Amino acid sequence: MSKDFLIFGSPLIEEAEIEEVVDTLRSGWLGTGPKVQEFENEFKVYKQSPYAVALNSCTASIHLSILAAGIGPGDEVITTPMTFCSTVNAIIHSGATPVLADCDMETQCIDSHSIRSKITPKTKAILPVHFAGNACDMSAIMDIAEEYQLKIIEDCAHSIETTYKGQHVGTFGDFGCFSFYVTKNLVTGEGGMVTTKQKENADKIKILALHGMTADAWKRFGDEGYKHYQVVYPGFKYNMMDIQAALGIHQLKRVHRNWQRRERVWQKYNESFAGLNLTLPPDPAPEIKHAYHLYTILIDKDKVGISRDEFLSAMHCENIGTGVHYLSIPEHPYYQTTYGWKPEDYPNAMKIGRETVSLPLSAGLTDSDMESVILAVKKILRKR
Ligand SMILES: Cc1ncc(COP(=O)(O)O)c(C=O)c1O
Repeated sequence: MSKDFLIFGSPLIEEAEIEEVVDTLRSGWLGTGPKVQEFENEFKVYKQSPYAVALNSCTASIHLSILAAGIGPGDEVITTPMTFCSTVNAIIHSGATPVLADCDMETQCIDSHSIRSKITPKTKAILPVHFAGNACDMSAIMDIAEEYQLKIIEDCAHSIETTYKGQHVGTFGDFGCFSFYVTKNLVTGEGGMVTTKQKENADKIKILALHGMTADAWKRFGDEGYKHYQVVYPGFKYNMMDIQAALGIHQLKRVHRNWQRRERVWQKYNESFAGLNLTLPPDPAPEIKHAYHLYTILIDKDKVGISRDEFLSAMHCENIGTGVHYLSIPEHPYYQTTYGWKPEDYPNAMKIGRETVSLPLSAGLTDSDMESVILAVKKILRKR
């Protein structure tokens, strides 16, 4: 890769987390230990959630939330076609059946009317995704959950900082699932977190995340003396390490500063692209604090004279990395053959998925990076 290439989603790593990682390496304790506990404690304070359990990914967080909710074979979970495949795969791995409700064309989040039309006697949960850092219509979704006695598992991979009517997303339903993957607003390399209101859910997720061994297993090599463990579930290997938490503790301290930087980039993009024939990302509704995770533009070939994929290639030639979030879930062959899903049955997600492009939006973008992105977009679109 050329050294001038602007990598999409490159994180901002500073000295504090580098020193903390080195301290962890020197401590002799790399696995799940005191730094994971510190990160969980600080995260739950930040999110104003009674419990938080750190795991090694958001995918693991969604998987274990579904299992902890007692959902499995024979049950249906409703989610959105405008999401990363792992949201749907986690439902499948729990043994339940995923059901898609289309997204709203404007907010690109799951549409509550479409959710209602997909409810059957087998529906056990709704899995809304707070897309790009926006918030789903949680008032409508919580009303549906109450009416049909459904669990709510919020996919908050894009929305660490998002609030809806003053309340943090991830604290409305039974579980909130967060990602600290390298391109996310807070990074630990790989990593995830579940927030929950109930102690029994937190305890169960902790046990499931480490082979199904009793909680004492977390401490079995510590200075309190060896503890025997018992296996109470056939669990998984989903625990976070102290090396990852060392990054997370300092990333969390700077979460607001990084958010402010992304907000400035977002506003600058909005001003710069206002005269172009693009659909810009939706402004958040007044009751929402947006996390500014993805700046997504829609490229409609009929309006701008270039297709989305041609635009992606042209940006690459200008040395700018971009992303696609996402081709709608029914575009992928596995889901077509397994569930018979067709893109046309989810027309909003299909249209967005075929036109969307994510421009670089990380706290690490310099002013000059931002100008390069703006110049490249204008150059490509003005040629038409
Ligand atoms: C909406 C959404 N859900 C889930 C995930 C999975 O996160 P992780 O990579 O931490 O498993 C992602 C990651 O890109 C995502 O964007």
